[in-house]
Amino acid sequence: MNDVSCQIQSWQDHFDRNLASRLKLTSHAPGLLSEAMQYSALSGGKRMRPLLTYASARSLGISPERVDGIACAIELIHAYSLIHDDLPAMDDDDIRRGNPTCHKAFDEATAILAGDALQAFAFEILSSDPELSNHPESQVKIIRHVSHACGAKGMAGGQVLDLSAVGKQLTLEALCTMHRLKTGALIAASATAPSLLGQAGDGLTGRLNRYGECVGLSFQIHDDILDVTGNTETVGKSTQKDAAALKPTFPSILGLEESRSYAMRLRDEALGEIRHFPGNTDCLEWLAGYAVSRDS
Ligand code: IPE
Ligand code: IPE
Ligand code: MG
Ligand code: MG
Ligand code: MG
Repeated sequence: MNDVSCQIQSWQDHFDRNLASRLKLTSHAPGLLSEAMQYSALSGGKRMRPLLTYASARSLGISPERVDGIACAIELIHAYSLIHDDLPAMDDDDIRRGNPTCHKAFDEATAILAGDALQAFAFEILSSDPELSNHPESQVKIIRHVSHACGAKGMAGGQVLDLSAVGKQLTLEALCTMHRLKTGALIAASATAPSLLGQAGDGLTGRLNRYGECVGLSFQIHDDILDVTGNTETVGKSTQKDAAALKPTFPSILGLEESRSYAMRLRDEALGEIRHFPGNTDCLEWLAGYAVSRDS
């Protein structure tokens, strides 16, 4: 393994331990709630968003420990979004990360509430993590930024656009807006949030944000591509579902080849944003490539 792969692996291990120990704090919850939360949040996954947070922190000279709370909170919001995305009222999926979806392993009511509780726990972490509470002004900025990314003008709004687009032929512009909101906003926040911790300045925050927006959009384009080209065993979720569910996607509008080149152009744009960055951007560069080359 080269240096970047070792670093990525070590962040993944560090992150998984950290998230598991935080989730133990929910074990007093009634019924199967905590089990369902842990089932969904600790079931693997690529940890793309936490990795972006650690890579961004590295580029700013900030230690991983200072951003553990941000990384965990964003991943918990992501885990909640997947539970709800899989529900019968949304995408109605049975498999997630190679396992039964939360509502299949438990039941619908437990899955809905586990999602609710994961999101609440994320904001509990952001508002109480000592590394953040020591800097209250930055803490409030980060909470505002993350809540905006997952709310009505971010992920939740994007999911509404996704559901209302079923059976429609969207313009490329409308499709990009939907993807930017439902997936791009939280991914961009993962990269931007560490810069709100210290003295990064608006210039670097802006560059990390634009980098994150390009990675986020390219990530969802690649997700659309994997739905067409992948198989359940490798991808860990049902494939060939988007077309069957009449979802407008990049491949359905542009075709596979054009979708791939669109994603590559976004990767290059992301790399352009961090090209003359003052800090170490090796892992940010790797992640921009990974977003559009992964096979799961
Ligand atoms: C899946 O996200 C949903 C999208 C936003 C495309 P990921 O591909 O990051 O899922 P995990 O966390 O690795 O399972
Ligand atoms: C999900 O998009 C975006 C979320 C906010 C969860 P998809 O519906 O395409 O994600 P998958 O393919 O089910 O993982
Ligand atoms: Mg969906
Ligand atoms: Mg889905
Ligand atoms: Mg998908």
